[in-house]
Amino acid sequence: MQRETWATRTGFVLAAVGSAIGLGNIWRFPYVTYENGGGAFLLPYLIALFTAGIPLLIFEFAIGHKYRGSAPLALRRISEKWEWLGWWPVLVSFVITLYYTVVIAWAVSYAWFALTQAWGADTKGFFFGSYLGLPDTFWPTGGLQPSVAIALILVWIASFLIMVRGVSEGIERANKIFMPLLLVLMLIITLRGITLPGAVEGLNHLFTPDWSKLFDGKVWLAAYGQIFFSLSVGLGVMITYASYLPKKADLTNNAFITALANSGFSLLAALGVFGAIGFMAQAQGVPVNEVAAGGVGLAFIVFPQILNSFPALGGLFGFLFFVALVVAGMSSLISLVNVVAQSVADKFGISYKQAVIGVHVVAFLGSLLFATKAGLIYLDIVDHFINNYGIALIGLAEVVAVFWIWKIFGPLADHADSVSDFRVSRPWLLLSAGILTPILLTVMAWKALAADLAQPYGGYPMGLLIGFGWLTVLLVIVAAFLIQRLPWGRSVAVEMERREA
Ligand code: PFF
Repeated sequence: MQRETWATRTGFVLAAVGSAIGLGNIWRFPYVTYENGGGAFLLPYLIALFTAGIPLLIFEFAIGHKYRGSAPLALRRISEKWEWLGWWPVLVSFVITLYYTVVIAWAVSYAWFALTQAWGADTKGFFFGSYLGLPDTFWPTGGLQPSVAIALILVWIASFLIMVRGVSEGIERANKIFMPLLLVLMLIITLRGITLPGAVEGLNHLFTPDWSKLFDGKVWLAAYGQIFFSLSVGLGVMITYASYLPKKADLTNNAFITALANSGFSLLAALGVFGAIGFMAQAQGVPVNEVAAGGVGLAFIVFPQILNSFPALGGLFGFLFFVALVVAGMSSLISLVNVVAQSVADKFGISYKQAVIGVHVVAFLGSLLFATKAGLIYLDIVDHFINNYGIALIGLAEVVAVFWIWKIFGPLADHADSVSDFRVSRPWLLLSAGILTPILLTVMAWKALAADLAQPYGGYPMGLLIGFGWLTVLLVIVAAFLIQRLPWGRSVAVEMERREA
């Protein structure tokens, strides 16, 4: 089967950066930093970047490039028995697309609302009440929420129109527009954020180092968690993107560029977000820690409040902020949809376009669940479980397999070296990705499990947590094994026999 390739090296790097830079950089990084020691957090963060983020990125690039396939195909070429380990991240990616699109849809609506500041004075009541229509009960769903569902349809249409054009005409082109646009938007937002009255106070809060936090294990786990999520490693995204590279492509350098661009962008976003938070604290005469927030609360409740008290042009800056969220989200979304579509195309021997159509139909229908009135609750639960058990456990399985089961650490590093400008240090890779990362990931998963068993997450009823959380985690793994048992499409099977012969 003919495999598409990126038209240019920049195209590949921009797509990888586009996947990495997402909602996580804008609403997760600033708050995680603030909560975990401010300026002092940058130390564990940088250590996590150099001991887990970059090494894993190099490995994922090398796997995709050497074995030329989506995660399941690449893994199947490494070892037939391990194909399921390629499907696990594909299925997790699929589940993430179901709710990631809904969050982007909220941002689409809010870009529109921002123009007239339609949320009014009570931004919290507006978000949960008028916009989401959140009911008091968790189940049944309360039916579709039209305002969310309409925006969701737009997001899926946009994703479809990009992806149906293929890898270089669709994904690459879109990222070549999205990434420069996002940078310009973020520069405007950050410049405005840090020049608002009171901004300095916010930045002081963000960066004043609390060195005592360095002795807190939780802070280190937060740093590794942020790096994993932010760099999109562990989900087969980077493996699949690297499979479209031409034979000669500098893997190691590209991994460094991707990682550093991603962290640079996070820092930029943090300056803007905390500048704006400092401004609001001053305007309301309250301490910064009373307004600091992350996640849904930051974007859809606190930011609208900040915009309400803006000195001038609140509507315009609000619009730019939510458009930035949409753009950052879209470029990550297409990387997730791509993993699913390419894996399905590889396995069943259908064309990429057919796979894109199929995946969009199924994922759109699935995502409707999160566009119901109680959707936010399901989203919160699924996201919690995916982040705590999905990404970390897959990352763990991946490094253990590479280093200790398949023992292909040497060949992969050799492969990266053979196409890259500079040699990667073997002791650094072995110590960081082979030893330190698996230990930390085990501790992370263990701590998450202990916390979930001690106390039901978010105070939700157990039935709901089992249904949306534990069952999702389990079903995804079972499904990965079942898919492994299905036969490969003809063209791929023939090609694999040829390789094995
Ligand atoms: N890296 C994205 C973010 O920071 O928002 C989220 C993400 C996208 C994670 C794609 C994983 C992934 F495969």
